[in-house]
Amino acid sequence: MAHGAGTEHGHGAERGSDHGAGHGHGHGAGHGHSHGHADIDWAVMAPVLEQNAEVTAPVYREVAAWLRDLRAARAGGNPAADGGPADGDPSLIVDAGSGPGVVTCLFAEVFPKAQVIAADPEEALLARTVERAARLGLADRVRTHRAELPDGLGELPPADLVWAARSVHHVGDQVAALTALADRLAPGGTLAILEGGLAPRSLPRDFGIGRPGLQARLDAANEEWFARMRADLPGAKEAREDWAELLTAAGLRHVATRSFLVDLPAPLEDAARDHIVTTFGRYRDLAADAENPILDPDDRATLDRLLDPQDPESLHRRTDLFLLTAHTVHVAVREA
Ligand SMILES: C[S@@+](CC[C@H](N)C(=O)[O-])C[C@H]1O[C@@H](n2cnc3c(N)ncnc32)[C@H](O)[C@@H]1O
Repeated sequence: MAHGAGTEHGHGAERGSDHGAGHGHGHGAGHGHSHGHADIDWAVMAPVLEQNAEVTAPVYREVAAWLRDLRAARAGGNPAADGGPADGDPSLIVDAGSGPGVVTCLFAEVFPKAQVIAADPEEALLARTVERAARLGLADRVRTHRAELPDGLGELPPADLVWAARSVHHVGDQVAALTALADRLAPGGTLAILEGGLAPRSLPRDFGIGRPGLQARLDAANEEWFARMRADLPGAKEAREDWAELLTAAGLRHVATRSFLVDLPAPLEDAARDHIVTTFGRYRDLAADAENPILDPDDRATLDRLLDPQDPESLHRRTDLFLLTAHTVHVAVREA
């Protein structure tokens, strides 16, 4: 049963948290304090996830507007002409794998009539969601529910919108996860998953130190980390990540895909700069991983310089820093 701000949720093995540099896959570099690649210390990751979602909040608003329009179109309404979005507005939203609840709360703001349930296995993240909802005056409409996909959602009432951002790829059996998410939909309900997109870019190809093309090599290291993370998940199964096909196989129809650009040009505001510093810090953790020898000593030295606030070439001081990435959202509908 979902519960209100601040309550229970049993507990479970702190299965760690993402690592996370990335926005691209939604997964990031490095695995912090983990023991296996699938062991991510999500409590440690909470501020990183918050920063990531906050810096890119305008994009989530665009996603929400798109979801509203799609739902309104299916309901036969016209939000623009009606002067209101009522036809597209869900009354119950489940955010599955909600992390610290930044997007949970953003959806509660964008859909002011909706009840929103944040579902996640990690108590520490649910607790942050509760705090955030209270801080934003949303406690009466945001609840939390401890659940680990593919199980744990069955107690929830059927939802008009199920949102799962970068959480399905943390489940060993992604097909089972999608089936469980699809099963939670009310007739006519929409499942939206954020998976894939483009890896972030923050520096020019040649940024004056080290060998040009560092970020492409970081991507390669990140991919290695990601593959190991997935292989180490309990019940890990390979699945061809054709999300449209997987959503259809889960019994859903009317699949649509759209990518949303995150485009923060230089010069960056402090929050975005901090986020990039954090991201590169996690890349350096990844580079320090003895199992992941992809980065050569020159690249590691470059990362050290980028992360040294005293260095004039550091991320903290550079004027050429930007954030460019894309998030891909796949949606599908449970036919009424
Ligand atoms: C990369 S974070 C994304 C958080 C949030 N959706 C966002 O976009 O900011 C992945 C989230 O998935 C959650 N997660 C990991 N394994 C899960 C599982 N088996 N079922 C549901 N959520 C899971 C983690 O606790 C974490 O909150």
